[in-house]
Amino acid sequence: MTTKNYVPRMLILALILLLAAPAWAQESKDIVLPERPALANFDLYTALERRQTTRKYKTTELSATDLAAILWASNGVNRADGKRTAPSAHGKQYMDVYLLGPTGNYLYDPLNRKLKFLSASDLKHKVAVQEYVALASHILVLVVDLDKVSEKAGSNERKLNFGNSTAGAIAQNVYLMSAAKKVGTCLVANIKEDEIRKGLGLTKSQIPVYIMPLGYLEK
Ligand SMILES: Cc1cc2nc3c(=O)[nH]c(=O)nc-3n(C[C@H](O)[C@H](O)[C@H](O)COP(=O)(O)O)c2cc1C
Repeated sequence: MTTKNYVPRMLILALILLLAAPAWAQESKDIVLPERPALANFDLYTALERRQTTRKYKTTELSATDLAAILWASNGVNRADGKRTAPSAHGKQYMDVYLLGPTGNYLYDPLNRKLKFLSASDLKHKVAVQEYVALASHILVLVVDLDKVSEKAGSNERKLNFGNSTAGAIAQNVYLMSAAKKVGTCLVANIKEDEIRKGLGLTKSQIPVYIMPLGYLEK
């Protein structure tokens, strides 16, 4: 090989490595979650008494322990067969929970107890119509994948209904664990769907249905 050929080849190799970098860099930024979140030490009756919507939060970031507990409550695995804290039609797993935070955006992977790193871009300011949402420490995005709903549902409209129902159950789980952790939240339908799709790289069959801001209660 002449020096003349060698230099362009080195440049091409450097370019390939540069383009491939995000793929392996992402893996190292995944966050491992605990097998079972720390006990909230809060009885269900009190959690139900304190379940409420709040739209004003402290600026303090949520702790890793509280986030892990809220994520697990949302749609975590609660049985040996992989089934979840929220019910789903025909037992199919068609819901995904994404987490938008101050340091990046992640996909919650309940089976592997991981937050899969997606990007470091600031999505918190782009996903909601109401301004208070962006001021939260973190935001959950509830997404239904119509292609993962059982064909027994029939139409896409019915599949979306199933997604909305499971999203409602997920939301109540989040409200209750948030109450136990003194975290404020809100089920928000008023979302910027296109921004969410673009920001999270959703497929055509994935529909973002609700988001839930999370932040410590002011009192
Ligand atoms: C389907 C649904 C959609 C909602 N969408 C929004 C919303 O876009 N923005 C918002 O600030 N609150 C939203 N909320 C929260 C309600 O306004 C709130 O639950 C209601 O005022 C009752 O208050 P509570 O949750 O404290 O009982 C929504 C609630 C539900 C159930």
